[in-house]
Amino acid sequence: MKDSYGQWQSKAYLKQYYSTDHIAEDELHIFQFILKFLKRENQKFDKILDVGCGPTIHHVLPFVPLVDEVYLADYLKENLDEIDKWLKNKKDAHDWSTYIKEELDIEGKDAIETPQQRTDLLREKIVSLLRCDVFQKKVIPIDIKFSLVTSFFCVDCATSSKKEWYNGVRNISELIEPSGWIILSALRNTDKYFVNGKQFPSANVSEDDVKSALEESGFHISTIEVEVRPVPMWEAEGFNSIVIACAQRK
Ligand SMILES: C[S@@+](CC[C@H](N)C(=O)[O-])C[C@H]1O[C@@H](n2cnc3c(N)ncnc32)[C@H](O)[C@@H]1O
Repeated sequence: MKDSYGQWQSKAYLKQYYSTDHIAEDELHIFQFILKFLKRENQKFDKILDVGCGPTIHHVLPFVPLVDEVYLADYLKENLDEIDKWLKNKKDAHDWSTYIKEELDIEGKDAIETPQQRTDLLREKIVSLLRCDVFQKKVIPIDIKFSLVTSFFCVDCATSSKKEWYNGVRNISELIEPSGWIILSALRNTDKYFVNGKQFPSANVSEDDVKSALEESGFHISTIEVEVRPVPMWEAEGFNSIVIACAQRK
């Protein structure tokens, strides 16, 4: 399964999925889900981890004012190098300005915090870029538990086996401290997705799979929330809906 990422190209992925004129449909749904979650839970987090971040930084944007330390982890060094370029404000780094500006607009905080301020704060709070493998019991090379673990289109896109996907969800759940939270998303009901015409796997998960994987991975059943959102704009890339979920660990 992992071999399929031998043909991965960070720049091609960023160009296709994160260079749209406005925040893409799936990402808009994710931001809305996260902001609804933050409003409801009204809490701060000491350490958060985004597992399988790819070459992206945007998913942690809504958490920046509420978190002390941000850890980003991915299987591929190439992806982390791309983030490192952004952290160092290198010329050939990906331009996240549309995402940062529009995410602040959705937050409704644009009047009090400028995109540059959010950018600076995020750069300051990212403390570590880590290699990870969601199929290993020890997913990351350090022994830290997090008050929040996020993972977007990672475990489901790392394998075409539903059994492996279940194991991966269980492994990343172990990184969460008691009463901590998970927020994740997955491509829905598809066995593949494409980047620049190249095919990558997907574990063909449904909303019921996500719910039962969370039930079996040590979360309070009453806290599990699973939503389905349509994303017709990516139909030609192998998927047209996504599942977004959160749950609180026992
Ligand atoms: C579809 S991308 C998602 C990237 C990012 N989270 C996003 O939403 O744009 C899938 C990511 O899973 C990572 N990945 C593949 N196999 C993995 C594994 N065994 N463990 C952790 N991450 C893996 C890839 O390197 C890639 O960054």
